[in-house]
Parts: sequence; C-alpha cells; structure tokens
Amino acid sequence: MELLMFGLVLLQGISPCFGFPNGAPTSACDDMVPRHTGVLPQPTPAPYTILTSTRTLQTGQPITVTITGTNYRGVLLEARSAASTSTNALGSWQLPPPDTKFLQCSGNKEGAITHANTNLKDNTTVFTWIPPNNTNTIYFMATVAQQRTVYWLNIRSGTLIKGSEGIGLATGGNPGMASNGFLLLLAPCMLVSQMLPR
Ligand SMILES: *[C@@H]1O[C@H](CO)[C@@H](O)[C@H](O)[C@H]1NC(C)=O
Ligand SMILES: *[C@@H]1O[C@H](CO)[C@@H](O)[C@H](O)[C@H]1NC(C)=O
Repeated sequence: MELLMFGLVLLQGISPCFGFPNGAPTSACDDMVPRHTGVLPQPTPAPYTILTSTRTLQTGQPITVTITGTNYRGVLLEARSAASTSTNALGSWQLPPPDTKFLQCSGNKEGAITHANTNLKDNTTVFTWIPPNNTNTIYFMATVAQQRTVYWLNIRSGTLIKGSEGIGLATGGNPGMASNGFLLLLAPCMLVSQMLPR
C-alpha cells in the first residue's frame, strides 16, 4: 500500500506536459501556454520543426503535418491565419493519430490537437488537416513539451498559401514573402507578450 502511494506521488511528480497529462485544456487555445505555474518556456530555439506535405492550400485537400526533432510527450497544434493576428484555430484536423486527441478551440471541435497521454511521440506521429474554404494563407503553430517542465512555445511552420496544383508557390511567391516579413516583425512582440507573467 505504502509502495503504491509512493508510486502515485512519484508519478504525479514527474507527470509531464502542460500540468495536464491528458492534454491541454481549452483555456490554452489562444496563448498556447501550458498551465503549470512557475515553469517558464525554454528560452532556447526549439529543437523541433513543423514539416508540412505542401506549401499550397487547396479547398478540401488534406495536408499532413509532422513535428520532427527529439521525442516529445506534450503537444498543442493549431493552424492560424498568416494574414491577421487572430488567434482563431482554423480548419479541421482529421482523426487524431495514436496518443493524441482533438481539442475544441475557437468553438471549432476539430480546431486543435493535443496529447491524450504522456507516451512519447515522434516524427512518425502524423497529423492530417483540411484547410477552411475562406482562408488564403495560414501557418501551423505548436507548443511542444519534452516533459512537464521542459517546453517550447511559438514553434511555427512555414507559411502556406492558397493556390492551384502546379502553380502554387510560383504565383504565391510575392504575397507570401510580404506576409513572412510581416510575421517576422510581429514575432518578437508576440514572444514578449507570451513571456509576460500572467
Ligand atoms: C525521424 O526520426 C528518425 C529517428 O530519430 C530519424 O532518423 C529521421 O531522420 C527523422 N525524420 C525526419 C524527417 O526528421
Ligand atoms: C468548402 O468547399 C467544399 C468543396 O468546394 C464544399 O464541399 C464544402 O461544403 C465547403 N465548405 C464550406 C463550409 O463552405
């Protein structure tokens, strides 16, 4: 019995990820900050990259998204408009891969993906997402936790731009670069606001 209690306490102590072993709560949708007070995000560049199967958005066409880097336990993944500062979670994630689940964000039941448990995930965990019809440019943003106390915010994919097969980036190039520049200007402000004590 005592051994069991000790085991439980130990498990709680090391239980990784957002202070929520079963996934991030809806309250984390906007700022994507894990809710365990006193634990700051890692200030170093994230050892993770968000890879996408394409840079071109096409109505109804699924896009696969993977997070590469060291294995991770916790995740919160959303698509956002690259043309505004809105924190709305866009599009629909498809059937979540093993050890992950949907999180309702911005009233969108399939608007975000989070971890379902603290099992290790790796780059074979493939997320599938369908773009909304009315958005021309998006990026994916993630918070990734290696363990409860070690996490990175603001991990971003490249920008995806609406286009048709075969034309894609060629015609999308200029607006894309413009909006990337805009994002670069914006990023430090967002980073600072993310790190302010709350
Ligand atoms: C995925 O992870 C494996 C094992 O760690 C690694 O060898 C491979 O290069 C990774 N793939 C990508 C696309 O990062
Ligand atoms: C989006 O476009 C697809 C294909 O044109 C259509 O089937 C679907 O109903 C549209 N969805 C919305 C929400 O308008």
